[in-house]
Amino acid sequence: MPKKMMKKEEKSMEIKIEKSKTKKSALKKLGMEEEILKKKLFFEPNLKDYEKTRKIFSWKKTIKEFSKHENLNAAYIALDKHIKTWRKNKIALIVEDENEKIEKLSFLDLYRLSNRFANLLKDLGIKRKDRCFIFLPRVPEVYIAFYGIIKNLGIAGNIFAAFGSQGLKDRLDDSEARFIVTNGELKKRIYEAEPKNIEYIIDIDGDVNKESKYHEINYKEEMKTKSSYFEIPKTSLEDYCFMLYTSGTTGKPKGVVHAHEALLVGMLTADWVLDLKDEDIYWCTADHGWVTGTMYGILANFALGATSIIYNGRFNAEKWYSIIEKHRVSVWYTAPTAIRMLEKEEEIYKKYDLSSLRHLCSVGEPLNPEPIKWGLKAFGLPFHDTWWQTETGGILIANYPCMPIKLGSMGKPIPGIKADIVDDKGNVLKEYQLGNLAIKPSWPSMMREIWKNEEKYKSYFVKGWYITGDLAYKDKDGYFWFVGRADDVIKTSGERVGPFEVESALVAHEAVAEAAVIGKPDPLRGEIIKAFLILKKGYNPSKELEEDIKQFVKNKLAGHAYPREIEFVNSLPKTRSGKIARRVLKARELGLDVGDISTIEEY
Ligand code: PRX
Repeated sequence: MPKKMMKKEEKSMEIKIEKSKTKKSALKKLGMEEEILKKKLFFEPNLKDYEKTRKIFSWKKTIKEFSKHENLNAAYIALDKHIKTWRKNKIALIVEDENEKIEKLSFLDLYRLSNRFANLLKDLGIKRKDRCFIFLPRVPEVYIAFYGIIKNLGIAGNIFAAFGSQGLKDRLDDSEARFIVTNGELKKRIYEAEPKNIEYIIDIDGDVNKESKYHEINYKEEMKTKSSYFEIPKTSLEDYCFMLYTSGTTGKPKGVVHAHEALLVGMLTADWVLDLKDEDIYWCTADHGWVTGTMYGILANFALGATSIIYNGRFNAEKWYSIIEKHRVSVWYTAPTAIRMLEKEEEIYKKYDLSSLRHLCSVGEPLNPEPIKWGLKAFGLPFHDTWWQTETGGILIANYPCMPIKLGSMGKPIPGIKADIVDDKGNVLKEYQLGNLAIKPSWPSMMREIWKNEEKYKSYFVKGWYITGDLAYKDKDGYFWFVGRADDVIKTSGERVGPFEVESALVAHEAVAEAAVIGKPDPLRGEIIKAFLILKKGYNPSKELEEDIKQFVKNKLAGHAYPREIEFVNSLPKTRSGKIARRVLKARELGLDVGDISTIEEY
């Protein structure tokens, strides 16, 4: 980000840090306290000495070791390899729903079912690199389908079940997906979306319409007829494995593609950071529609042989604690918004026996000192912050069980990763200087492609650095501190939302002439989406209209990406070329100086 484009408050923050004599006071100005938490561990961590491992670590050696697997397909490494070991009959997956219905699948069950599904797809004619999407809530079929797809060398695409017809259409059309796996209820949205390239809809409920213009496949019936043996074709580390759509400031969501090699970073970090061990019961609360739920919910966790639990239901503090108590969850990977939601219902945790917990991690948004302190009070354990992105494929910066935590810091780069703070030209900045968080390419889980968009892919790289889009600084001990986004991307409840997508959905409403969307800081959700709307002639602001617009965006785009706040306005600040100046709206909303507005007009 050029300095001239830097928001004024960030600029002044940077100057303050640079001029500051004492680094401690600079940190205080950023609202950060360098409070160090030295932990007393009651378990032997997998990673015993961070600095030493960092020093001796080599990607070359590690990749060579990883390549010794009989097959390099992520499905083989995460699942099939266990079938030859004592883990064969171990429980791999426990799924509980809102009605307390519990399903348990062993590694062998998952192996057999995913083989059947792989055969089903093979018989339908799936080819290498064919995109096959999974549009389902958190049910076992997600795992069965995901492994079945990648065993065929297809590209598995997970879509969050809250997406509406437009959100779905954008993803299916851009990827030109031929296959989609869904259920009876969500299938309706696929028909509303009218995807252009879908040929097969595989319905896990089996209520198929034989007259449909798509081929509807009855999952239950077909699975019965398929063999539970499947020979995974020879796979290279570079073969594509999965893709996830994610948002930036401009344009529609982009398809981030990962190769089978990504699992290597997933496994290393599930070992070093999540500290997963065979005896663990592990709960990753992220949906499979997001990268955390894919890498640490479907792949790396199984690869390390832990038992994973999935809760298929809405957030509810009592329910969450009962899951931990009932299933004896030991390692828990969640997000700051969820921690704050639990904290809000302060007293509930005391009613449950949560003593099975031994290690807690967090991801997706800044983990401030407050939730860490609360975690200590409620569970006797600190949450360990981890930083990464859809594009990085795996955790790259983290707090490790063996390392003291500086409250509020994201931690240090994983062994093998060089992270730094750079200016917009890619020049490395000094300690405590605010700038772009950047990573030295490449690493095994670095995205391989932005689907059909080479220009976008290239735009991430400056002078040999991968630019993350986050603003941060590094302290004297090499710990990284998150400060904010360098762009307009919104993080609401830890979920990444592009303002353009929401604005496009808003202007499709019959009453809306123009729309601008920003992320407004929120004590619970990190940010909420706030929309500024100009209404068309003949429409007047009202509470009913506001509700109608919110509902419209929920249905059209996604249940999680609608504006919780709407303000009706008569004009919007725009640049001379007509682009909406969201930074001006945001500064006004926060009561900050709007900075240089000589190029901004209001109309
Ligand atoms: O802004 C950073 C924020 O989430 C972004 C990546 O979002 P997504 O691709 O959806 O992946 C989220 C889960 C891996 C980042 O650019 N973010 C992620 N982790 C943290 C964070 N912000 C602050 N602290 C973190 N630990």
